[in-house]
Amino acid sequence: MVNAESIKKLVREKYAAIAEQSITENKSSCCGASGCTTNVYSIMSDDYTNLEGYNKDADLGLGCGLPTEYANLKLGDTVFDLGSGAGNDCFIARSIVGDKGKVVGIDMTEIMINKARENAEKLNFQNVEFRLGEIEKIPSGPDRADVIISNCVLNLVPNKENAFTEIFRVLKPGGHFSISDVVLVGQLPNALKNASEMYVGCVAGAVQKEEYLAIIKKVGFKNIKIQKEKFILIPDDILLSYLSANELLTMKNSTVGIFSITVYAEKESSCCDNDVCCK
Ligand SMILES: C[S@@+](CC[C@H](N)C(=O)[O-])C[C@H]1O[C@@H](n2cnc3c(N)ncnc32)[C@H](O)[C@@H]1O
Repeated sequence: MVNAESIKKLVREKYAAIAEQSITENKSSCCGASGCTTNVYSIMSDDYTNLEGYNKDADLGLGCGLPTEYANLKLGDTVFDLGSGAGNDCFIARSIVGDKGKVVGIDMTEIMINKARENAEKLNFQNVEFRLGEIEKIPSGPDRADVIISNCVLNLVPNKENAFTEIFRVLKPGGHFSISDVVLVGQLPNALKNASEMYVGCVAGAVQKEEYLAIIKKVGFKNIKIQKEKFILIPDDILLSYLSANELLTMKNSTVGIFSITVYAEKESSCCDNDVCCK
């Protein structure tokens, strides 16, 4: 994979294809990783079916956490969901923020946006909106969201610092995010790292956990916490599509780990602790 634009083209094409499939087809197509026999997404994704607001047409089985469960959403909040897919987390968020709140899903894949809009229309929601756009240039003015959520997306964004800088920009002062994403501990074997199928399958684009947290700190967020951490076990038959038996053994005996984390952080309000405004 050569540059950011070609990576994004590949990601867009793959998720456009996935948008046209059912969750069952996505399971058998393996995290969009053609050639695999089982599915990474179903390993990563959590069970949504008991959550209030769950809409099965919006659930393509593409998440790696339940950010709405950790995001401390409140009635009336404005919530942005970055990389909203068919709207799965948006509809859960809508059930929490209610009629007076607002949910904005943002995705760069047009077919995903269309699918999400169809779902919102069927539900007759007036306050759930889907915008076509990129996370590196969020289609929104500054200081608009009370809460930002995202589910298994930022690993796909080539420049993660740009993504978090944009998240900082559009959050209101005093706002926060809960983001579920894939991170690594240790180095993946090159054959996995360089496989485009592993990139679109949410593995190879992931960065080291410490680097991920350092980026969040660098762009200015405070009170950074990991709310949930889950080890992702990729089945051998998938790994053997890229690695020899020996390479697989070496990887298993190493300390390399692929994790789904849900991470929280706050954009400090412009007032000081004693409520005296700083600006
Ligand atoms: C793994 S899917 C997750 C979808 C959704 N969050 C869910 O859990 O069902 C990744 C989604 O992120 C979108 N995406 C990837 N990179 C993006 C970017 N740079 N800007 C906006 N959307 C992006 C893709 O189009 C796709 O819909």
